Amino acid sequence: MIQLKVTNLEKRFGGNHVLKGVNLDVNGPELIGVLGPNGAGKTTLTNILDGAIKPTSGTVYLNGQRIDQLAPYEVARAGLGRTFQVTRSFRRMTVLENLYVPALAMGHMNQGRALTEKAMEVLEFLTIDHLRNEYARALSGGQQKLLELGRLLMLNPDVIILDEPFAGVHPKLMEVIYAYIRRMKAEGKAIILISHQMDAIFALSERLIVLNFGVLIADGAPDAVKNDPAVIEAYLGKDEEDAA
Ligand SMILES: Nc1ncnc2c1ncn2[C@@H]1O[C@H](COP(=O)(O)OP(=O)(O)O)[C@@H](O)[C@H]1O
Ligand SMILES: [Mg+2]
Repeated sequence: MIQLKVTNLEKRFGGNHVLKGVNLDVNGPELIGVLGPNGAGKTTLTNILDGAIKPTSGTVYLNGQRIDQLAPYEVARAGLGRTFQVTRSFRRMTVLENLYVPALAMGHMNQGRALTEKAMEVLEFLTIDHLRNEYARALSGGQQKLLELGRLLMLNPDVIILDEPFAGVHPKLMEVIYAYIRRMKAEGKAIILISHQMDAIFALSERLIVLNFGVLIADGAPDAVKNDPAVIEAYLGKDEEDAA
């Protein structure tokens, strides 16, 4: 069974205390929505989980393996993949070539035709198969997001973190991303969905966590979290600017 265990995670950037004792347990397939105001530490948490940065202290285990000191490619091999709030693709490679990169990193390049077939299936699912021979840099922002999602499908991780997948995406492509998330859910992945789009969060999440100034202030069923006084206060109350 998929198991992600985050314990007492702390992150400081100099004097900026960005994550404060974050604990998170993910067991088996589930879709966890993540809410939190700008600067709450959502992307920093993602960067630690995928190995891009190291925590100041605390641990992360994936399926029993400690991953918080591993490099991103090792974390990917261990079974965790993420997309970026600010998209990253290999701009001088074609769309199809971009999809081969995860397989290359995983050492699956000898799959040959199966790999091409898989890549084409992924591009068709994401409705960008007609762009397969275009350079990634020629794609719109939304299409680049889809390409990143495609790379994750090729990687086939157990745990998927989507960092603001809907930001700046045309409504038509949002439908595709919804379908993608539902497919990943059906395939039994654990999905962590970070988004400011409340409608998407509430439509898709089975569990909701809220980060506020680096503190995980709520973790539970979406309806319960929505009505949690601490969450309401973090979002609606006691804004110092309002008080001034
Ligand atoms: N690489 C970094 N170096 C220094 N400070 C950072 C770095 N990454 C994030 N921060 C700081 O961490 C805090 C949380 O940022 P972030 O994780 O991006 O929040 P969120 O994704 O919730 O909006 C912010 O104060 C931000 O300036
Ligand atoms: Mg962010």
